Amino acid sequence: MRTKLVAGNWKMHGSLAANAGLLQAVRDGATGKAEVAVCVPYPYLAQARAELDGSRVAWGAQDVSEHAQGAFTGEVSGSMLADFGCRFVLVGHSERRSFYGDTDAVVAAKFAAAQTAGLIPVLCVGESLAEREAGITGEVVTRQIDAVLANSGAGAFARAVVAYEPVWAIGTGRTASPQQAQEVHALIRARFARDSAEVATGLRVLYGGSVKAGNAAELFGQPDIDGGLIGGASLVAADFLAICAAA
Ligand code: PGA
Repeated sequence: MRTKLVAGNWKMHGSLAANAGLLQAVRDGATGKAEVAVCVPYPYLAQARAELDGSRVAWGAQDVSEHAQGAFTGEVSGSMLADFGCRFVLVGHSERRSFYGDTDAVVAAKFAAAQTAGLIPVLCVGESLAEREAGITGEVVTRQIDAVLANSGAGAFARAVVAYEPVWAIGTGRTASPQQAQEVHALIRARFARDSAEVATGLRVLYGGSVKAGNAAELFGQPDIDGGLIGGASLVAADFLAICAAA
């Protein structure tokens, strides 16, 4: 049985004052069976650690450098994230891919750098609306995964998570239907099964894209959906906790 995971992605939101209440509410309210994590902006990692250390809520970051150290102004390495107790780090979020030029090759390098630092990468994949309408969802998602498989191998996914996030569903209020999501999740798992049945069976594939308290249970009830990556709703404690409870 795969333990469900619900990970919040705060994106570029928050302040020391606002985070304190949110972190405390999540820490105190996350009581279900699912594993829970929050991925916060870099400056708030120390605060997340202070509030969450010793609780059942893990924390992580939203990006990581593909380099271990050096003259890379503005970048943050995996070992720095590990220093702050991060368990998870998102790699290849669609906003990184589309606004900051993270190519499949860069994402593959970031995935490897995260694992070298002992972090669990959450590899985000997903198609744009145009790609879905062109009928190439499977191809796009497979290409994004294959880039990482070519670099790190299937065995690496024993210590990783995949998040399927259709770009057209992120922050739009338009969720993939449970059937649409399940179809792609099954395709993702089948891709891994080609390389390793064991890895495919154990791999957690999260769904992300306008998950709310009202649609979480049905999405998480699909056989190949192992939890969620939650953007907007992770900023409101009651909403996030209701999603965690649904998992
Ligand atoms: P959303 O974001 O829940 O606000 O759609 C999901 C994400 O981008 O991870």
